[in-house]
Amino acid sequence: MPKRANNPSAGDVYVTRQVHFNAGHRLFNPARSEAWNRRTFGPCSNPNGHGHNYVLEVTVRGRPDPETGYVVDLGELKRIVEAAVVVPCDHQNLNKDVDFLKGVIPTAENLAVAFWGRIAPRVRAGVLYSVRLYETPRNFAEYRGPDPLP
Ligand code: NI
Repeated sequence: MPKRANNPSAGDVYVTRQVHFNAGHRLFNPARSEAWNRRTFGPCSNPNGHGHNYVLEVTVRGRPDPETGYVVDLGELKRIVEAAVVVPCDHQNLNKDVDFLKGVIPTAENLAVAFWGRIAPRVRAGVLYSVRLYETPRNFAEYRGPDPLP
């Protein structure tokens, strides 16, 4: 049996940066009728929208670099997530104001996928593990990419 506990390079370490932003949205599928949207989304489809205090957790994984002890520099990850997601989304209407969300029904699920698409190209290949988006403390969606590793 390998002594994993005694060998710090024997397994991946998962490192998370959490960021916050506030935004409005409306759950609405323009391809369907108002009645269908009301039936499907309830008050989340109210015509003038509503807001959330979103919490986004971005997790990377890998072996700590022997020289720095870091999987990634969390300061750098913070800057990447701020630029890729927080700056374009904070205090915006996610249905109307954010270019990369055009045509996306802004559920937590779809936002998590879209945010992955913004963050993945900006970090070292293969290091992004998950993007978890909280709409409320009890409702969240997590995306682990199109081809998740076990
Ligand atoms: Ni909502």
